[in-house]
Amino acid sequence: MKFDIKKIVRPNIEILKAYSSAKDEYTGEANVLLDANENSLGSPLTKWYNRYPDPYQRKVKEKIAFIKQIAPAQIFLGNGSDECIDILYRTFCESGKDNIIICPPTYPMYEVNANINNVEIKSAPLLPNYQLNVAHIEQLVNEQTKIIWICSPNNPTGNSLDRIDIETILNHFNGLVVVDEAYINFSKQKSFAQSLIDYPNLVVLQTLSKAWGLAGLRLGMAFASEEIIGYMNKVKAPYNINMVTQELALVALEEVGQVNDMITHLVDMRVALAEVIESMPYVEKVFPSDTNFLLVKIPNARSLYQFLLSKGIVVRDRSGLENCADSLRITIGNEQENTQLIDAMAEWIEITFPSASV
Ligand SMILES: Cc1ncc(COP(=O)(O)O)c(C=O)c1O
Repeated sequence: MKFDIKKIVRPNIEILKAYSSAKDEYTGEANVLLDANENSLGSPLTKWYNRYPDPYQRKVKEKIAFIKQIAPAQIFLGNGSDECIDILYRTFCESGKDNIIICPPTYPMYEVNANINNVEIKSAPLLPNYQLNVAHIEQLVNEQTKIIWICSPNNPTGNSLDRIDIETILNHFNGLVVVDEAYINFSKQKSFAQSLIDYPNLVVLQTLSKAWGLAGLRLGMAFASEEIIGYMNKVKAPYNINMVTQELALVALEEVGQVNDMITHLVDMRVALAEVIESMPYVEKVFPSDTNFLLVKIPNARSLYQFLLSKGIVVRDRSGLENCADSLRITIGNEQENTQLIDAMAEWIEITFPSASV
């Protein structure tokens, strides 16, 4: 494979002179800071919030680098991984000219961001077993294909995609292969984050929103070669991660043990919940999950969705997605929430299929 990042990056980004912020130009410890038009009197909050945050989030990256065993220069941080997705489009895809490949059903933001950026979407739907159709993907690739989006474990199907298939694509495609690992911590599969050395065209996305329990903080991560990260840094807003997020992320990243305990607990509850739902009459399938949710196929899924809503339980109806007819995506809750869900499902089944006994 002849991967050349200079052929992938948008020509205007290649020559872009990135904005140089006050915090870029001076990074020392001076005590009279009159360089950034901040409010020198302070703030209504803790004093230091009058200052702009570190534009490159160095301390947070150091900590993530240690946990993930990746060089800090190979890490990009976004306002959620959603920002990483958008920045990848704006860095590498020429509006009205380039195309990308998605493998639906999958995380819809790859498509939304392609549309926002006016980038053509080519679609290679997952096979009926929700695995990649590698031959179809290879057929779709042309000179203008910049990114292949792969979500593993996949949202909304829950399964991990075959590693050999992903490696085949990485080996044969001369554009970027983005492996979105938002749910990797719930899986026993090996992350691709440790394979960056083998694949110059690989970008791995992870997030603090799922296993780390910090969706409200908005911190997403992209891992890739230094060159790719360098281009993404040129495109991002100067202070894209606010100071509160950086501070709290530093605290949270000390708590690997607590997070691992939550993961174990959530995975145990996922296994238990899957067993209970699978044993209910009329449930057609609970798909195997490597995530913190279950995809459940059941007749009249929309009616079950409405019934759950009437009980104050919100799940996601994914029936409208390709190859997902009559399917609800159900996030694993806490014990009490899971019990409420099971009771409500049982009640709905009894009402809807009167001959059924749960
Ligand atoms: C596969 C996948 N990628 C990315 C995201 C976005 O995560 P973040 O909260 O980091 O923006 C989600 C959120 O649900 C997701 O399911």
